[in-house]
Amino acid sequence: MQKKRIRKAVLPVAGLGTRFLPATKALPKEMLTIVDRPIIQYVVDEARAAGIEHIVFVTGRNKHVIEDHFDIAYELEDTLRSRDKKAALKLLEAIRPAPGTTSFTRQQEPLGLGHAIWCARDIIGDEPFAILLPDMLMKSERGCLSEMVEIYNETGNNVISVEAVPEDQTHNYGIVEIEGEQTARTFSITGMVEKPAPGTAPTNLFINGRYILQPRIFDLLGTQETGAGGEIQLTDAMLALMGETAFTGFRFEGETYDCGSKSGFLAANIAFALEDQTLAAELRPLLAELLKA
Ligand code: G1P
Repeated sequence: MQKKRIRKAVLPVAGLGTRFLPATKALPKEMLTIVDRPIIQYVVDEARAAGIEHIVFVTGRNKHVIEDHFDIAYELEDTLRSRDKKAALKLLEAIRPAPGTTSFTRQQEPLGLGHAIWCARDIIGDEPFAILLPDMLMKSERGCLSEMVEIYNETGNNVISVEAVPEDQTHNYGIVEIEGEQTARTFSITGMVEKPAPGTAPTNLFINGRYILQPRIFDLLGTQETGAGGEIQLTDAMLALMGETAFTGFRFEGETYDCGSKSGFLAANIAFALEDQTLAAELRPLLAELLKA
């Protein structure tokens, strides 16, 4: 059977970001900066590098700045042009998606991740698609989603990225049950549970925020009962989908930074800053000095 290409991705960006208040009072948490780019830009870049052609942002109130970030900033660009600031203009042009390749839809009520994804059903239509959770920032040579698209192209399966987490943290995440070697690059997923009670997780492999799913997930989300935290959970709908089509687990081997937490966000800033040679040369001695204390 001819496999449909993965062309579209959903980025749920409706969350309130309460952990970063007051910074996120007027600014969406996805617009917080890692070095010199908002978090959301890194995630969009990862999607585009994986061949994604259309990005669906599921937003909420107070998130219009995200839409502005991916639009022409007419006055700014005109001023830069009149001042002959070619490098800055080029930078802005490079990050701007082509017209018609983004969609924005609102999740009107905070009913859970599963509900946020379901809000994108009409825009995605009847084709397999990717989901990227913007809180999770990935750093790797090949790009997490690019590797997953390769696996999808080989198997046609649903593909979920996972990685190991210390056992005392499994209750914070979706955890998968697998068949085969936990250390292999890919394995089949035989079960999953959202935020298992401490001591009950089937493995220590957590779902780290990158998914490729069949559109059938939308039907299942549409009738999904609430689960962990009283919310409609994507993990529960995926478990139902598992009864119909296969799930392949992909063990991501790069670095993942959970930018939903302050320590993850700060670590991401340092890690990405150290990738820039000029900045790294200035930063290393400052960090060494701070760490002496
Ligand atoms: C969501 C998912 C969970 C996943 C996590 C990764 O949880 O429901 O399965 O492991 O993202 O960040 P949330 O962080 O929204 O509680």
